[in-house]
Amino acid sequence: MRKNTIVIRAINKKIIKDVAFCIKKGDIVVFPTETVYGLGANVFDGEAVERIFKAKGRPSDNPLIVHIYNLFQLDLIAKDIPAAAIKLFKKFSPGPLTIVLPKKKSIPSIVTAGLSTIAVRIPAHPVARVLLKETGLPIAAPSANISGRPSPTTFEMAKREMEGRVDFIINGGDCKIGLESTVIQINGNEVIIFRPGAITKEMIEEVLPFPYYIIKQENEGKILKPLSPGQKYVHYKPSAEVYVIDKIDIEKIKKLFKKKKVGILAVNFKSLATENIILRNFRSISDYARKLYKTFIEMDNAGIKIILVQGVPEKGIGQALMNRLLKASGKRHLKL
Ligand code: TXA
Ligand code: MG
Repeated sequence: MRKNTIVIRAINKKIIKDVAFCIKKGDIVVFPTETVYGLGANVFDGEAVERIFKAKGRPSDNPLIVHIYNLFQLDLIAKDIPAAAIKLFKKFSPGPLTIVLPKKKSIPSIVTAGLSTIAVRIPAHPVARVLLKETGLPIAAPSANISGRPSPTTFEMAKREMEGRVDFIINGGDCKIGLESTVIQINGNEVIIFRPGAITKEMIEEVLPFPYYIIKQENEGKILKPLSPGQKYVHYKPSAEVYVIDKIDIEKIKKLFKKKKVGILAVNFKSLATENIILRNFRSISDYARKLYKTFIEMDNAGIKIILVQGVPEKGIGQALMNRLLKASGKRHLKL
């Protein structure tokens, strides 16, 4: 472990190559992906992976996603790969799709929290791709946040979370998608969505038509199928109390919360903020998704204790966004 975290700007390929070398040697590195920032280590280095769990304060029963450069590397970490998985990877990779597959024995059990399966993703972000290409190794990388907090989607967020806990942080600017990848598992003809993301149920259905069944797994205590351990933990939550609202009525909100500071996250809502109401208006659902976690953190930092988030239709990225809004709010709705 280095004494200090080294911060790097992702403009110079040569420097990223040097960081790749350090990953090979056992360092742990925060790097940008198209979804959120990740905290990565050589998947075959159990000690480095252990440092990831420590840096995040992550429970040891929550397995990591392993990132690979391309499909040729799949055989290094997974076996008995269903044809449907290859079809999906071919269609959606590199990109925000993670598939849970039977794991190879050579993977240290700390990576998969002792499970016989391994979650695999081929990321699209150029920095992630250089790291993967140059190391020639699969890289285990959860989101680069302290456990339970929103995933970092900007360099500043990643730095705040991880400076002093990791060896390198690579500044790659803001993440394009802003919500974590879709996590799925294929069991025979059944495709279970553990975590919705930018690759939607409908997009998967189009690649895998009948006889496949795509099931959106509702989490929270009701998981009967193969577990995705991450889903049982509190996630994606700011310190403030979050409530989902369907419409925005500023007068009612003022009456309800009196002099309390209230944050509101809305889409295409035209109104001016008042003294105690801090309004963040997004221009589209994908803009809302991209900036959700950043806005949560900004509102926390501004001392806001109540955040009202406008619900969105569960279409496209709206599926993943609504999932995160429900998680952040503990499914609490406020009727206005
Ligand atoms: O977009 C992303 O997926 C980001 C970037 C960095 O790639 N990564 C990310 O990793 O969100 P993490 O560790 O924060 O979330 C991984 C999720 C957890 O909910 C975990 O339980 C689940 O994937 N998971 C990992 N391995 C699994 C397995 N073998 N079976 C079921 N679920 C698994
Ligand atoms: Mg995470």
